[in-house]
Amino acid sequence: MKYRRLGKTNLKTSIIGVGTWQFGGEWGMNFSQDEVERILGRAKELGINLIDTAECYGDHLSETLIGGFLRNDHREDWIIATKFGHQFHDRFNRTDAFQPEDVIKQLDDSLRALGTDYVDLLQFHSGSNSSFDHDKLWTTLDKLVQMGKVHHLGISIGANDNLHQTSAATQVGASVIQVVYNRLERQPEASVFPSCLEQDLGVLARVPLASGYLSGKYKPGATFGQDDVRHRHDPEQTAEKLRQVEQIRQNEVPEGTDMARWALAWCLKHDAVTAVIPGCKNAAQVEANAAAIKLIGDNHPQAWKETAEEN
Ligand SMILES: NC(=O)c1ccc[n+]([C@@H]2O[C@H](COP(=O)([O-])OP(=O)(O)OC[C@H]3O[C@@H](n4cnc5c(N)ncnc54)[C@H](OP(=O)(O)O)[C@@H]3O)[C@@H](O)[C@H]2O)c1
Repeated sequence: MKYRRLGKTNLKTSIIGVGTWQFGGEWGMNFSQDEVERILGRAKELGINLIDTAECYGDHLSETLIGGFLRNDHREDWIIATKFGHQFHDRFNRTDAFQPEDVIKQLDDSLRALGTDYVDLLQFHSGSNSSFDHDKLWTTLDKLVQMGKVHHLGISIGANDNLHQTSAATQVGASVIQVVYNRLERQPEASVFPSCLEQDLGVLARVPLASGYLSGKYKPGATFGQDDVRHRHDPEQTAEKLRQVEQIRQNEVPEGTDMARWALAWCLKHDAVTAVIPGCKNAAQVEANAAAIKLIGDNHPQAWKETAEEN
């Protein structure tokens, strides 16, 4: 594995993480505790130490499954990133809950589900600017940091050009931005990434495989079951994305290179990007994704320098 410094958190994060929206049941399958243990156990063997989850991947279900794994592992070996801001009602049905009292309750529920007394990173979960521009929210979050329940704050921006929230990160006490970034979605390069670099923020690139479309295994016309979130994507837009993927495969991906691996490495080459958090459904996908490090050099500005930073 390769590691980078997660912006000014100074956390040493693996450049490949594990995204776990899938564990919440909105990606066409339900996960057993055994399956989650195989996925996270393999991740650990490969040197991965970053897990991204959220309050509303199921009603704290993804966190509960991760918690089941952590109980038999070393909690301190992991960077656990979760989020706040929603009440989950049912599959594909959640409502906003960004009031300070909601957030306190969500965090307590997350900690209980994860079986831990702190999270490394608590992220504002793609809320509106009006939910964001609320001083009392950030003073409440600061108190949670002072109490030790949260080590660092982050902002998972909803729109990929949300400079309003990104540029306010340092001011509200956040050290990490999470944003959709992949070979089909380069919008963050224009203004979000320059602001992250200027503020020394860690950047987690989410949806790095464009919801799996960049794996190269789907062709235009691909369909998904009703319980798979991709069933809800606009079919025309999906077909267009898959046509672009075919062009990319022919023109950019070196012959014989696995496309998912290439797509992750592509994200990691940007100076602003600290880590990618591909969603994973099984241990084989974790393994394939971890292998992206073979396509990455060591000269990234956030590359972890053992001697300078660990002493
Ligand atoms: N607002 C937010 O904060 C927000 C929103 C979205 C996501 N996220 C986070 O970001 C993570 C990643 O995003 P995402 O899961 O939406 O999209 P993604 O990572 O682009 O795609 C994940 C999907 O790609 C496929 N896949 C994964 N590895 C593969 C491999 N090696 N080869 C072939 N296919 C592979 C799997 O689906 P199939 O095998 O079924 O194709 C998997 O479910 C989420 O899990 C979540 O933690 C956060």
